[in-house]
Amino acid sequence: MSERPGGAATDQAAVDPPAPVDALRGPGADALPPAPHLLVTGGAGFIGSCFVRQILARGDGTRITVLDKLTYAGDRANLAPVEADPTQAARFRFVRGDIADPTVVDPLVGDVDAVVNFAAESHVDRSILGPEAFLRTGVIGVHVLLEACRREAERAAAGTRPGPRRRLRRAPRFLQVSTDEVYGSVPVGHSHEDDRLDPRSPYAAAKAAGELLVRSYVVTYGLDAVITRGSNTYGPYQHPEKLIPLFITNALDGQPLPLYGDGLQRRDWLHVTDHAGAIEHVLHHGASGETYNIPGAAERANRDVVAALLARLGKPWSLVRRVEDRPGHDRRYAMDGSKLAGLGWRNRVSFEEGLAATVDWFRANEQWWRSIRTGDWDSYYERQYGARLAHGLPAADIASGPGPNEGR
Ligand SMILES: NC(=O)c1ccc[n+]([C@@H]2O[C@H](COP(=O)([O-])OP(=O)(O)OC[C@H]3O[C@@H](n4cnc5c(N)ncnc54)[C@H](O)[C@@H]3O)[C@@H](O)[C@H]2O)c1
Repeated sequence: MSERPGGAATDQAAVDPPAPVDALRGPGADALPPAPHLLVTGGAGFIGSCFVRQILARGDGTRITVLDKLTYAGDRANLAPVEADPTQAARFRFVRGDIADPTVVDPLVGDVDAVVNFAAESHVDRSILGPEAFLRTGVIGVHVLLEACRREAERAAAGTRPGPRRRLRRAPRFLQVSTDEVYGSVPVGHSHEDDRLDPRSPYAAAKAAGELLVRSYVVTYGLDAVITRGSNTYGPYQHPEKLIPLFITNALDGQPLPLYGDGLQRRDWLHVTDHAGAIEHVLHHGASGETYNIPGAAERANRDVVAALLARLGKPWSLVRRVEDRPGHDRRYAMDGSKLAGLGWRNRVSFEEGLAATVDWFRANEQWWRSIRTGDWDSYYERQYGARLAHGLPAADIASGPGPNEGR
């Protein structure tokens, strides 16, 4: 794929575009007015920016305001395709700010039909190095957003919430983007939405806490809110600290690939366009107070994912180093998706085509990822992998199958 950030093509071109939401209407009533105005928090990150690009490219009148703090993980270049297109840019606004700051959040929530909260510190390894930022955004930030929605719900009930064309707005709907990691490690079977939460990393605990706050606002204040739990997501524009882009970009540079432990941790991979599409589907059709799993239907061992991306790149398995595992590393995540399927949602992207397109995207967009692998990248990388790589071992014994250049 030949897309460059800011160019005319979008990442969706790499795979079948998701079906328009209208073609997938589920049984639930539409919770939003036509051509809604959405506040998308964390919309300069990986999944949030895909959500924004996907909706605005459709040109159905939806307007989007992104609120993003632009942490190390947020990048305005992820929104360049929107800002470069005048028709999309006319329905788009970017605000730099913190979801934990009510002076920024309150006026923005006052003017929207829904809040979709992607904002989070999202990397488990960083949550082990320093959990505090995870709690500030994942708990205090979510609380500030919920309080703003509660106030707007009160105004709507009092008939004092102005909308466009002198009409009154309904109360805003709140969607909390959460993760399969709140279930903890699942040795067998599949997690259902009402299973016990058992988070095992500071990241997962902060996400579980955010969810519990949302539920409390539904029960206590009658807030209109839904929660999604997405599985491991991959695709274009993902920060190079995460497994798939880290290994692609290291391999492109001929650097070692630090594979944790025996590489047999199992994840269910979900393409980012499917994750973003499913979130939008739940936003429109999910029942208030409900939680929806978003599985990927592509459960793979990490070592097999690595073998597949190396094969696509034509790079040898000998680049892989077996390094000390992440503490408390969850062995397996797997979710049941029947509740979301009951709303009428189907994923569109197979893992094989999605991974191939992702590898090709990173190969074609070197400038994008090189600009991220600068600044404090080296100190983070050294802290996370320096000692591990120094004591790392060849990983020949855990290769899952023949490597492309090694006949094994
Ligand atoms: N990546 C995955 O595999 C995955 C899977 C399931 C769920 N999720 C969830 O999806 C959401 C998005 O994940 P992602 O991978 O796109 O993350 P990301 O790290 O790429 O993006 C997070 C974005 O949030 C912004 N942000 C962080 N703190 C903020 C704050 N206090 N105020 C405003 N903006 C802030 C960052 O600048 C960044 O743009 C997260 O809530 C994450 O927990 C991710």
